[in-house]
Formats: sequence, C-alpha cells, structure tokens
Amino acid sequence: MSSILSFAVLAFVHALNVAAAPALRVRAAPPATFTANNAIGPGGSSFTDSAHFRVYGETGTTATNTLNMLEGAYSCFVDTLGWRSSGLAFNDATDADGPWTKVNIYSVSTLSGGAAGVMHSDYKTGMSWLEVVNQYTAIPGVTVHEFGHGMTYHAKTWVEQGRTGAWWETVANWYADTYKTSPLCAEGRSKFGQSTSATEINLNKVIGDSFQVLVDGSAGSGNYYEAWPFLSYLTYNADKFAGLGTNTIRESFVQYSKGSNETPLHTFARLSTGATIQKVVGRYWARMAFVDIGHPTAQSVFLSQRSRINYANLDSQGNGVYKVKSARQPKYMGANIVPLKKSGAVSVSAKITTSGTYTATLSIRNTSSGATRYVDFVNGSASASVSADEEAAVVVANTPALILYDPFQLSGEVAKGLDYTLTLTGATA
Ligand SMILES: *[C@@H]1O[C@H](CO)[C@@H](O)[C@H](O)[C@H]1NC(C)=O
Ligand SMILES: *[C@@H]1O[C@H](CO)[C@@H](O)[C@H](O)[C@H]1NC(C)=O
Repeated sequence: MSSILSFAVLAFVHALNVAAAPALRVRAAPPATFTANNAIGPGGSSFTDSAHFRVYGETGTTATNTLNMLEGAYSCFVDTLGWRSSGLAFNDATDADGPWTKVNIYSVSTLSGGAAGVMHSDYKTGMSWLEVVNQYTAIPGVTVHEFGHGMTYHAKTWVEQGRTGAWWETVANWYADTYKTSPLCAEGRSKFGQSTSATEINLNKVIGDSFQVLVDGSAGSGNYYEAWPFLSYLTYNADKFAGLGTNTIRESFVQYSKGSNETPLHTFARLSTGATIQKVVGRYWARMAFVDIGHPTAQSVFLSQRSRINYANLDSQGNGVYKVKSARQPKYMGANIVPLKKSGAVSVSAKITTSGTYTATLSIRNTSSGATRYVDFVNGSASASVSADEEAAVVVANTPALILYDPFQLSGEVAKGLDYTLTLTGATA
C-alpha cells in the first residue's frame, strides 16, 4: 500500500518566514480543544470534529474511527514524545501562546496519480491539511502516514531542504509503523481505544536490496518508503549508543542545522555523541542479519520470511574466497548480509580485502534462545567460535565519510559500489 502513497511537494514550495526559536521556551498548557478553520483546504459543511482534528466528508463510525486513530497518534507523538504540536502554525515563532488550530482531513473519492493520501500545506495559516481517499481514512498506513508528513512540516526545519526530501517518506512510514506497533505509543493508542496492528516491514526490499544507498529516492527502484527500519533502529537503540534513542527522530528536526540542506545522516551523526555514524550504520546492518533492531514484531516477520529473501551477493572463487557480484556491491551506507553455512560447532574466521571504506561485523545468533552477539572486524578480519546451536552471518556495510547527497539524484561517490573479496575458514557463504 505504501508504494501508492504520494507526498505532495507543496511543503517545499512555500517561502515562509521562519523566525529563530527563542533560547528558552516555556510551554504553556495548550487548550483542551483546538479551533477549527474551514478556510484551510476546500472547506465544507459536512464534517466531524475531535479535539485536535476535523474530518470532512465522513460521519458516523468511519469518522469516529479516523479521529480516534489520529488522536491516538497525536497523544503519542505530541503528549508522550514531545514533538511540536500540529496545532501550531509553521510560521508561529512563539509556540507557548498558540494559536492552536485543528488539522483538517478531507475524505475524497480519488486523488491524482492513484495516490491514497496526500499532505498539503496552507500558505496563509502555515497549517498542514490532508486528503485521503474514502476507503483509507481509518487506515493508519495511509492517514497516519500523511499525518506524519504534517508533523514533519510542523517541525519546520526539514521544509525546503531538498536533501531531506526522500527522507520525508522514510519518516512518514516510520511514524505510521511506530503508531501501529510500538510500546512507545501504547498509552496513546489505549487512550483512544486503538489496538496494535501488524508491521508492514518489507524485508524483500530492505534486506533483499540492502546493497542500495541507505535511503534511495530513485523512481521505481528506490527504497525510501521501505528504509524506515533504520529509524526504528535509532529509536530503540539496542546498542545503547550515547545520544541516540527514543527521541532521535524528533531531535533530527530540532537539531537539524537550519537552512543548511544537510542530509538527516549529518544530523544523526551529530546526535550520536559516542559512536561515529559509520559505526552506527554498520551496526544497524549487522543487526538486520536477524532483524534484531529492537522493533517489537519485525523479527517474527523475518523468521517467517527469511527463506524467500535474496541473499545472492557473492560469487565463489574457490578455496573459501568470494567476490561481491558487481550488481550487488554495497553503495553509500548500504550493505551485504551474507548468511554462513556450517555444520556443528566451528571456529569461523573471515577476512575482507578492499580498497574501500567499510564497517564489517560477524553477526551471531543462538537459534534456540534468540541471543545475539556481534563481533566487529578489526583490520580487515574477525573470528569467533560458533556453537552448534548458533547461526552466523558476515555483514559488510559501505561506510565512507558523510556525503551531502540528494537521494532523488544519485551520482558520483554515492552511487559507487564497494568492491571487495571475502575469505572464509570454518564456514562457507
Ligand atoms: C543457546 O541457547 C540455549 C537455550 O537457552 C542454551 O541452552 C545454550 O547454552 C545456548 N548456546 C550458547 C552457545 O550460548
Ligand atoms: C590493527 O592494525 C594496527 C596498525 O597496523 C595495529 O596497531 C593494531 O594493533 C591492529 N589491531 C588488531 C586488533 O590487530
């Protein structure tokens, strides 16, 4: 479903005046109910209201379900996680005193280009508003995704920063998934009678095409809708990297270098005070060997789908030497995950030869307890004793110095693959 979603570029075309945030922000309590404004979007006389939203073109159960879902997301992200409220206009520099406005959602029969939903921004008021096709209004994968765009817009700093463009989709899918699946949103969901729902993680894409640029906005072949597990990894922070965790996505807006057009990876690199972004990306991919990223349900999807994922990354050269296939050389911040074959308890050693810059890991998982361990490659090699009840994989990520790249226009260093050979003893690839 996410592939048919489209995000209107309207958010980028407005030259709004963003005043500098005051050094000290005092949060006054917002009103319990925000003010509706019929002039944001096409307006209309048939609508249903909740405290922070107005849905046009729906009444009865669909309206109630849609509004409870959106209020659940609002409660999670604004009340629990402290994101800037969608009630505050883009161009409001003094957040504490409002005004506080409802987000309008229009339930429509069709959208151009076959989209299921779209986010717009209203120039005059600095408010986001959404359009969603009727049948999807109460579906979080569509409406909460679009609201995620709205929240990104209200967070201000990514607007008109073209290099963040493709990441808007990554964030919106992470936003919808977090609303649907995360313990972080349990309180928000339960306040509005919403249950958890299934993750839409697409492992055929994320793992099967893991060699692609980490966030690749190429039309048709890109992964920008699917790449959100990286954001889940940063949020759950299973490796307890200093500076990362629950608030990383919120802080990627708050601490974005204003007007710099930097990539979100640059911001994450600053947020991560204890580990380089190269180490963080390398460990993300190491954990994706078993989808051990802290997500509550993604690993069970992995365990049921793993046998159908494409892992054909290497060609054997004989004598335990393997060369990466040219079409699957990992590009900028992408990786290869190479499951190892072995019998019984073995001592595995692995060596990588390349002229490129990479972060490699021997990922090991106890298949009965699920316990994992990660052995970093140092100076091109890693070794470990792997018991009979453990499985292992070699994970090689292409992690050069950060590049200011536009995911919609991949070229040069970003599009260049990491050429390498892997030599194994104790196991085969
Ligand atoms: C793997 O897990 C099982 C079940 O908890 C445990 O008995 C076994 O010792 C573990 N193996 C290793 C190598 O830790
Ligand atoms: C890695 O190589 C450096 C430089 O040759 C050396 O100083 C260091 O001890 C090596 N580390 C390991 C763990 O082999």
